[in-house]
Amino acid sequence: MILGAITPKNQKDLRSSLHPNTLKPILDMGIDIIFESGIGKGIDTEDSIFIEMGAKSVSRESCISSADILLSSSPMADHEIATMKDKSIFLGLMEPFSNRSQFSAFQQNNISAVSMEFIPRITRAQKMDVLSSQSNLAGYVAVIESAKVLKSALPMMMTAAGTLKPASVFVIGVGVAGLQAIATAKRLGAKVEAFDTRPVVEEQVKSLGAKFVKLDLGDTGQTDQGYANELTKEQIKLQKDLQSDVCARSDIVITTAQLFGRPAPKLVDESTIKKMKPGSVIFDMAVESGGNVEGSALDEIKEIHGVKVIGFSNLPSFTANHASFALSNNFINFITDFYSVDDKDIKLDLEDEIIKSALLVHDGTVLNEAFK
Ligand code: NAI
Repeated sequence: MILGAITPKNQKDLRSSLHPNTLKPILDMGIDIIFESGIGKGIDTEDSIFIEMGAKSVSRESCISSADILLSSSPMADHEIATMKDKSIFLGLMEPFSNRSQFSAFQQNNISAVSMEFIPRITRAQKMDVLSSQSNLAGYVAVIESAKVLKSALPMMMTAAGTLKPASVFVIGVGVAGLQAIATAKRLGAKVEAFDTRPVVEEQVKSLGAKFVKLDLGDTGQTDQGYANELTKEQIKLQKDLQSDVCARSDIVITTAQLFGRPAPKLVDESTIKKMKPGSVIFDMAVESGGNVEGSALDEIKEIHGVKVIGFSNLPSFTANHASFALSNNFINFITDFYSVDDKDIKLDLEDEIIKSALLVHDGTVLNEAFK
């Protein structure tokens, strides 16, 4: 079996879907690895490092047309899907809600498409969970980048020149990214408060030493997969009103609120920004899915009423080396779990819980109802 790996379509994305420190299990299984030449450039890893390990450097075209299983950290263009090997497997990030045309491209070309976004949130699959591994680093990056923009230090410092007060950080949305944002801000010595609509989060926030802000929005809850339910218009309004005082007293507000497969809720509006101190910072981590903050702009720092609103995208790429290590491990864990040593091939068992959830196209058919 030939495993191929290509570079992301966004050239600003420095991540590599193959990291040299993760390849041993695959090579030990006798799987051949080919990769698009230059794949490790963003993580300062020359082709020669992969080649010394036994992998082969090829052109992008040759990688796509020769691989039995093709790894990609971003969706592929339809014309490239058309050049994939018959009955091969795409394993990667498909961004399926915003890239609908790829479904017919996979169908027409008889490619099985596994979407890493749909790896189910079950214990066995945690090691393959790309959304978690990347969100975790994104949460870290959001705090570091916000700290760079804030013109004060985060920790309290008792100095001969006087006591420097610690920064106050408010995290809205405490999923994987939010938890890491809290942990990072705490490590840097900030005073941290956080809110999420899922009540189960309160304990997790407290266990990190942060304060959970209680906002009574009525019935909120969560889906079976652990995602937040969409709030009603009235609940969103109530949330905005209730949390605006917390924003006003914070030096950094980090918003991570997302709804799987739907646009992010707008949670911080101009009237709240106006109440905040000049020089304070808002980091909108949901900017790529519509944004939580009124006025935030993709890849920009906008100054709104003296508040710096950061809308950077592709945050895991800021820590490209660790992000690639985690991503590559996620891919390799999938392969090692589903590789049959006897058949020397990946077995997509349609009864398996992970395959049932993540295999979106197979045998010329779209399997997930949401994309039919
Ligand atoms: P996400 O990226 O979909 O959303 C981020 C956070 O925003 C979530 O915590 C969500 O509840 C929150 N949110 C949505 N609307 C909000 C609003 N109006 N106000 C405030 N917060 C709002 O979430 P993510 O990171 O994917 O995590 C969702 C849950 O799944 C978490 O509990 C996480 O720990 C859990 N999880 C479980 C895994 C497993 O068991 N294998 C793997 C990964 C995550």
